[in-house]
Amino acid sequence: MVENKLVLELANRLNGIAILSSDITDKDLSGVDFESLIAMARARFSGIAAPSLLTKDLLVQIVKDKDAGDVLRERSSTQNKSFEPMAKGISNNFAVANQAFERTGGKVSDFADFFNDRLEKLKAIIYDSQSSSMSGMIHNIESVKQYTRGREVVLVGMVYDKIITKNGHVLITLEDETGTAKILFIKPEQGRGGQQAAELFMNSKKIVNDEVIAVRGKVSDPFIIASALVHPDVPVRQKKKIEEDIAIAFMSDIHIGSRLFQQKQFDRFIDWMNGRIDHKKELAGKIKYIVVSGDLVDGIGVYPGQERELSIDDIYRQYYELFSSFAKLPEYVQIFLITGNHDAVQRAEPQPTLPEEFYRDFKLSNIHLAPNPSYIMLNGIRVLGYHGTSLDSIIQGIPGCSYSKPEDAMLEILKRRHLSPIYGDNPIVPSKNDSMVIDKVPDILHMGHLHKNGYSEYHGTLIVNSGTWQGRTDFQVRMGHIPTPAQMPVYEAKSGTMNVIDFNSSGL
Ligand SMILES: [Fe+2]
Repeated sequence: MVENKLVLELANRLNGIAILSSDITDKDLSGVDFESLIAMARARFSGIAAPSLLTKDLLVQIVKDKDAGDVLRERSSTQNKSFEPMAKGISNNFAVANQAFERTGGKVSDFADFFNDRLEKLKAIIYDSQSSSMSGMIHNIESVKQYTRGREVVLVGMVYDKIITKNGHVLITLEDETGTAKILFIKPEQGRGGQQAAELFMNSKKIVNDEVIAVRGKVSDPFIIASALVHPDVPVRQKKKIEEDIAIAFMSDIHIGSRLFQQKQFDRFIDWMNGRIDHKKELAGKIKYIVVSGDLVDGIGVYPGQERELSIDDIYRQYYELFSSFAKLPEYVQIFLITGNHDAVQRAEPQPTLPEEFYRDFKLSNIHLAPNPSYIMLNGIRVLGYHGTSLDSIIQGIPGCSYSKPEDAMLEILKRRHLSPIYGDNPIVPSKNDSMVIDKVPDILHMGHLHKNGYSEYHGTLIVNSGTWQGRTDFQVRMGHIPTPAQMPVYEAKSGTMNVIDFNSSGL
């Protein structure tokens, strides 16, 4: 065995930052969490140009000091000894899918490629799902123009435009690669047409620009009079359960750095995860994975006047706090951090992973950076994590959707098989490949952004909005939005049970 192997490693890792005093030996370092120690040492010496001397006294202080050694304290000494988490014995089985998207120069032809890719992908999904009821009936838009009045056709295309006519009918322009057609959804007369006609008309009002739909109807020049409307949709399946008795926790919109970040509740969450709270302790021990869907920190300059609402006005320190907090969680818990509109990445979606400069002090093996959106496979469960920035445009554009029920807006997204169907409101990076298409059916669709918890199940897909860890902002007061901070959904994957742990309760 190499003598003082730990000392050599530490010296190596602190190269250029600190020089180790020669009386430090491996004995001083045994049992110490290296990553946390390095993070603490870096923080201690940051801003000092020349490498500083890390004396033995200082090392002991960093390791033991209750205040300065926060990160170490949590990991190395205060984990509840009687806590025997079930998830610890279960091996990791996860993968974050790499979303391929090719950045383009934003030329007109690039946008054409982007929309063509969307149309092709969603058309293929519609063809697959509707093969029995519509096969042989799907026509190119250009080809139906020669058809005689009354002929029944099925068209698949992208919605170019939607208007309400002066008689109250819904008129849409549908476009495919061959041309455009005017589709009319007739407003049923009072008491006529039955429930089916009323439903069709109601659904036609929910059509949004740029979504891909299939319409069945009759040729009635210059229109097609619609009789059915089909979204790409997800197939009906059973809710996904697995053999392993593990749980997945969901968080989003932590907003560290905001004055309204719920520190007390977040500390309670860390205590709970470490088995220091008796309430539902067994469930805490089942948590193998945590998926965080963006707005990890509050950011800097995200909106005018934000500086007045910050408790930490340095973006690096905001992320330092974030990673320090997650470093306090048990190491067997795998954490996936997706970016959001408050994070230090480009605003347009898909958003890349957080750049290394924000976490280089914390090369924690159990923290995984992921882009927005991301498919994450967790023991065979496919989670689609997306921040949810497009939910604003969905709520604006679809009647019946509201900020108080995020699950309804998420369902509309799922049915359309596109995370940001309305082009223009939510900035998108034009790419040859529209990676916002939901091309794989998720077992769990997880979002945040609205700061409001919401849950539902649709065709076997669990829809989860995990709310926030930030209190009610002035903006939310003005808008009349009521957030639901510090309520964490936890999915038990063996039984298929969704739990919500409320960290607001001191009696937890
Ligand atoms: Fe947020």
